[in-house]
Amino acid sequence: MLKNPSSKYRAFPAINLPNRQWPSRTITQAPIWMSTDLRDGNQSLFEPMNGARKMQMFKMLCDIGFKEIEVSFPSASQTDFDFVRTLIEDGHIPDDVTIIVLTQAREHLIRRTMESLRGAKKAIVHVYNATSEPFRDIVFNLSKREVLEMAVNAVSLIKQLTAEQPSTEWQLEYSPETFTATELDFAKEVCDAVTETWGATPSNKVILNLPATVEVATPNVYADQIEWMGRHLARRDSVIISLHPHNDRGTAVAATELGLMAGAERVEGCLFGHGERTGNVDLVTLALNLYSQGITPNLDFSDIDTVARTVEHCTQLPIHPRHPYVGDLVFTAFSGSHQDAIKKGFSVQQADSYWNMPYLPIDPADVGRSYDSVIRVNSQSGKGGVAYLLENSYGVVMPRRLQVEFSGVVQQHTDSVGGEISAQQIWQLFSQTYLQSNAPVCYREYHLFEHGKNQGIRLVIDIHGVTQVLTGYGNGPIEAAVNALHGAGIYVQVRSYEERSMNADVDGANAQACTFMEMTQQGVTGACYGVGIDSNMISASIKALVSGVNRFGVVEIM
Ligand code: KIV
Ligand code: ZN
Repeated sequence: MLKNPSSKYRAFPAINLPNRQWPSRTITQAPIWMSTDLRDGNQSLFEPMNGARKMQMFKMLCDIGFKEIEVSFPSASQTDFDFVRTLIEDGHIPDDVTIIVLTQAREHLIRRTMESLRGAKKAIVHVYNATSEPFRDIVFNLSKREVLEMAVNAVSLIKQLTAEQPSTEWQLEYSPETFTATELDFAKEVCDAVTETWGATPSNKVILNLPATVEVATPNVYADQIEWMGRHLARRDSVIISLHPHNDRGTAVAATELGLMAGAERVEGCLFGHGERTGNVDLVTLALNLYSQGITPNLDFSDIDTVARTVEHCTQLPIHPRHPYVGDLVFTAFSGSHQDAIKKGFSVQQADSYWNMPYLPIDPADVGRSYDSVIRVNSQSGKGGVAYLLENSYGVVMPRRLQVEFSGVVQQHTDSVGGEISAQQIWQLFSQTYLQSNAPVCYREYHLFEHGKNQGIRLVIDIHGVTQVLTGYGNGPIEAAVNALHGAGIYVQVRSYEERSMNADVDGANAQACTFMEMTQQGVTGACYGVGIDSNMISASIKALVSGVNRFGVVEIM
């Protein structure tokens, strides 16, 4: 039993805001988005991204359409400093993208941060200090006056240092860290002093970022705090109000949406809600929430799976299967009544009319997904599900996305044949689908050889019965085999790879490797799986590659 909390915790007080306007407003346009995946999102990983992963993430953020990207905390680590230098010196920053770097409001850190930005075409310097009472009293032992002076001194120094680098187009961002726990009149006083010191004008606005560093109240309180600041800040026309919600109470998305209704113009967050503790607000959910209301989000998530796999690769953290819009299960209906309603919905949905689908808030096709209705009975129910039966009877442990894909194949079969399906029938279907022996492309053999620092492969396959010997090179056997297929006009990419062993005896003998390869094909939306089983791991991988090629039907297209 949880203890009675009333002597330990207290409710956050309501904000005195008579005649609040935000409850009757609706959001009509996308905010300015700022991704902090490479800063807040990065500092909170078990294994922060190395330079290569940061670059992969940066390029993807640019492709998605972010125009403001917080790329690092240069004074915090050499990797972060070097990353900014590489972006600038090697010309990786598109003309319409502005990079942002974060610094604490301390002189030596500001100087180091400004050094990292030398030569940038444009940049936003983001400076912060904590303003709330617990931080003033417990953490820093500073008076209100000293906290205010700290912010003003930092901004004066940044102003001086930016003037010394006139070839860069500068903007200032200031965050009163722990804003939501700060007395509003003091937060306003500090923010106004910053605006004044920077000399913000309507054509050179200062960004005042008002973070819910820790989410401490219901989302309506955040909205009240934002509307209050918007009404009271000096030089409102020279200020961009920005939101930076964290998700400690699980309401960051709601708080952000209400904050936008309360007059904020800009939002900082991370893809899929990465970031310190429970994360920053999830920018994908926010953008697609807007999209579902008919508002162009200005961020392109039309291939959400590729974004998801890249984020998983860069952060080394999996995305929850029920994560809004992107989880493996969110366009899957398990219940018969849901499946029935969706089926009926699809049968009457017109291409040119409003989306009006039971249980599916957006069209999965808009984010490059498809609707998977899964006939699946889990192990607890005693009847056995597709995945459960394959695992238990044949030792095949499918990755989750393959489960979804293969369940569709099973469903098609049961739809046309009717009745129940046995484990043996499921295995037959699995073999026909993925382990095809008489498919258009058949694997024969391979021979590996060294090629300088690279791996070479001579790959023998039959295409429609005609034997072809293909040669390719790469970092390893799989990349070499993928490249070898180019010789036959086959262009596929490997998106994810999993290998499991199956059918081992008690002493581990006679184990077979089972490889699952999720693949994409140039010019084709979506991904599909190939599967290969062999006692040799490399042979299993190449068989999986060929299996995927057959699944795509590339050879029919040729
Ligand atoms: O959460 C926060 O307050 C921050 C600031 C540094 C903006 O990340
Ligand atoms: Zn933060």
